[in-house]
Amino acid sequence: MPRKFYLTTAIDYANGAPHLGHAYEKVLADVIARRQRLLGRPTHFLTGLDEHGQKVQQTAQKRGIEPQVLVDEVAVVFQAMLAELNISNDDYIRTTEPRHQRVVQDFLQRLFDQGLIFKATKSGWYSVRQEQFLSDKDRAEDGSWPEIYGEVTQTTEENYYFKLSQFQGWLGEHIQSHPDFITPRFRRNQVLEFLKEPLNDLCISRPKTRLTWGIELPFDRSFVTYVWFDALTNYYSAVMDQGLWPADVHVIGKDILSPPHAVYWPCMLKALGLETPRQLLVHGWWTVNNQKASKSAGNATDTLGFARSHGTDAFRYYLCREMVVGQDADFSPTTFENRYKADLGNNLGNLVNRLLNMVGRNYAGKVPAPGADEEHEQHLRKLWSETLAKFDEACAEFQISHALEALWVFVSALNAYIETRAPWKLAKSADAADRARLDSCLAYVAEGLRLIGTLLLPVMPATAAKLLANIGRPVPTDYAGQLAWSTVGTGSAVAEKCILFPPIEPPPAPSPA
Ligand code: ME8
Ligand code: MG
Repeated sequence: MPRKFYLTTAIDYANGAPHLGHAYEKVLADVIARRQRLLGRPTHFLTGLDEHGQKVQQTAQKRGIEPQVLVDEVAVVFQAMLAELNISNDDYIRTTEPRHQRVVQDFLQRLFDQGLIFKATKSGWYSVRQEQFLSDKDRAEDGSWPEIYGEVTQTTEENYYFKLSQFQGWLGEHIQSHPDFITPRFRRNQVLEFLKEPLNDLCISRPKTRLTWGIELPFDRSFVTYVWFDALTNYYSAVMDQGLWPADVHVIGKDILSPPHAVYWPCMLKALGLETPRQLLVHGWWTVNNQKASKSAGNATDTLGFARSHGTDAFRYYLCREMVVGQDADFSPTTFENRYKADLGNNLGNLVNRLLNMVGRNYAGKVPAPGADEEHEQHLRKLWSETLAKFDEACAEFQISHALEALWVFVSALNAYIETRAPWKLAKSADAADRARLDSCLAYVAEGLRLIGTLLLPVMPATAAKLLANIGRPVPTDYAGQLAWSTVGTGSAVAEKCILFPPIEPPPAPSPA
């Protein structure tokens, strides 16, 4: 049994409704997971919900309900989003679950026993929103506190600290000697910059007088632990019994790279004598009308409506095609409509219908064996192997948008090939050579579509399966032997008609922030 590929996403905060950013991250991870499985690699895909912390406690208080009631409600909504987006996660972890809490407490106890957690009194500026003490380097240039910190107050408190500073040297070396640890590469610099300043020890407790909604410190029950110490541990707690550690890839957004995932988490693991994750895959932010999509701005929930109006797969395609992994991208109904009409309807959808039409009309619905048409076959074969190489290379770097871009060059080329061959003209000819050309043309297009459908399975699972079914091909569960140009399609019975991407009235535009 090969080692399982273990992939995670960030666990979403249970203090609001899911939005475009959450949807995207889960889709990106899902595409990676589905592709790994098709490549024959057993895969474990984890996502979940981050349920503790001040924000959850406050939201529950405002609504006059218990925090547990709130997070149970929110979990239902987030899980419904996963179902709607056809996310194939193998597990869903919630940080209020005993299986998680137990491990967090074990981690805390072990660090305490090793002398890596100590108690100290600190007074300083405290951000309620970020649940952390701030230092002068957190101030804006004009000396004020940036808006992300919300209300900042002077506080004196006794707390427990993790000796993070002790691991600074190790972490710097680890990042330098593992160039793929942070992907894309340019994100490393941000972390290396952060590490130029001496690391402070990390406050990992909150007195219960201020916060009760958290996991108690096992060695001092008058405190709960800091929500990030709790949340990061999910990646380990969910799989510790399954021998899956370390994770291969943590998919996260750029806002939680440094310090949580690139600094706290590797140092926590190092201190515990556990392996660090192999890779952090860091995506950028979706904006809507150039503002960050977020719960507090409430500007991106409506965008999820496009999955309902245009179909889950069209939505998945749009997200994957439009965002270059690592960069930011802007969601706009216009670009969505354009992609839907141009890439999906007019390009791919049209190609399928042309094939079904011609095969139905001229071959009683059975894909012909290719006749002799060496020149075109050579050309298409070559184009396919180039496409596949580009697609694979892009996917190896998790650059799904580049992979799709390359695949669509092939889709367009098949449409152009049909234009040049003009099968509707060949069909009218009495010449045997023309008949052979027609055989070839339709056989090649059918084969091209089989290959396209196969590569698209991770991105548009239901649509790709439908495409394959409509050209009379089974849906592979393994890529072995499936991606080479072939004649397996000969004799396949195609459907009469197939509308993969029906024309659609756009839903109401997302409300401005
Ligand atoms: O950060 N575009 O939760 P979260 C793209 N609970 N991605 C976005 C985004 C946007 N506009 N807004 C948020 C948390 N995200 C913590 C994580 S992990 C141990 C704990 C991404 O609900 C964000 O970057 O605020 C993060 O990866 C994920 O959505 C959850 O964000
Ligand atoms: Mg956030």
